[in-house]
Amino acid sequence: MPQHEPPLNAAALRRAVVTGSAGFIGSHLARALAQAGTTVIGIDRRDPSTDPTAAANLAAAQGLPGYHRITADLIDCAIDPLLIDADAVFHLAGVPGVRPSWGPQFSDYLASNVLATHRVLEACSRVGVPRLVVASSSSVYGPTGGGASAEADRPKPASPYAVTKLAEEHLCLAYAGRSSGPSVVALRYFTVYGPRQRADMFTHRALQAALTGQPLRLYGDGHQRRDFTYIDDIVAATIAAAVVPAANGVINVGGGSNASLLEVINIATGLVGRDIEIQQDQARSGDVLVTRADPSRARDTLGWQPRVDLRAGMRAHLQAMTAQMPGCSRAA
Ligand code: NAD
Ligand code: UGA
Repeated sequence: MPQHEPPLNAAALRRAVVTGSAGFIGSHLARALAQAGTTVIGIDRRDPSTDPTAAANLAAAQGLPGYHRITADLIDCAIDPLLIDADAVFHLAGVPGVRPSWGPQFSDYLASNVLATHRVLEACSRVGVPRLVVASSSSVYGPTGGGASAEADRPKPASPYAVTKLAEEHLCLAYAGRSSGPSVVALRYFTVYGPRQRADMFTHRALQAALTGQPLRLYGDGHQRRDFTYIDDIVAATIAAAVVPAANGVINVGGGSNASLLEVINIATGLVGRDIEIQQDQARSGDVLVTRADPSRARDTLGWQPRVDLRAGMRAHLQAMTAQMPGCSRAA
């Protein structure tokens, strides 16, 4: 499988905490840090002995020297002892996903994205953690006119999920303003894809449909566009945010160009060599038509730019999926 190893500048991080380490992005980050020689405390509430997705994600870093897995819920666990001597906390734990955030699940979003974040911030303040990097979301921008979103734009969150991510961001920055609080970089990730992507997300589902011949449900007409960002690029920006001297603020992490869902379907079809049967469904509330990052601040502050384009990233994503499917050899 082709490797798109991110350029890592993790040398300044002797010890780091990654929350959400059994998740898609957290598992990649924990692995990259441990591979670079950082001692990593990975915290997640999902138990690999009962959750196969968590087990598969955690396998990426398990066994690497310096990697320590803690199964705990940030809503009620004792956080302070886990943070002692950490040079940085990467707070990625949260309940993601735009569409399921309507209705009764909102309380889970609120608990993990806001209340648990508050507990992490209090613990960082007590223990004296110098830097917190928090995973925010492009969804805080809400509907745009189609142009690039810059950090100074007024957020207009259009889903309950996005409201919790904006609250999480503001909470972190409020703590950053206190003398006892950590310095904070809030990264607004734009639709992340690549190996181990969550199974509810579109790129995974398009590749899955091409591989299995099962239909793909398309919400809306497929012309909606996303600034799809490859996981290794996300990891590189996230590590850079922990070691950059200037801090306290939000930074977009997205490539600055975007693609439609129909283009993703075309790439998946071409890579796998099988047409996808589409089941058209109505557009979902809370979904925006277009996301596109203005990447200037990430470039100027973090020295970051994306390295992996959509086709190359989807090829790596596909190869990781086929490696998990015994007897499958369709990947181009
Ligand atoms: P994920 O669901 O794969 O990972 C999140 C992890 O957090 C899960 O393993 C979950 O068990 C853990 N978690 C949730 N609440 C917890 C709690 N109270 N205590 C301990 N662990 C808890 O999601 P992901 O796609 O990897 O997203 C990671 C972060 O990035 C989230 O904060 C999400 O909002 C944000 N984000 C993701 C994307 C994306 O495209 N995937 C884009 C923007 C922002
Ligand atoms: C993604 C993540 O899921 C969020 O957690 C994250 O906060 C957000 O990116 C972000 O950038 O901040 P989203 O852009 O909705 O959210 O990404 P997908 O879940 O992959 O959906 C992309 C588009 O595909 C949406 O328009 C959605 O309606 C559509 N879709 C998704 C389908 O048509 N069918 C599906 O089966 C799944």
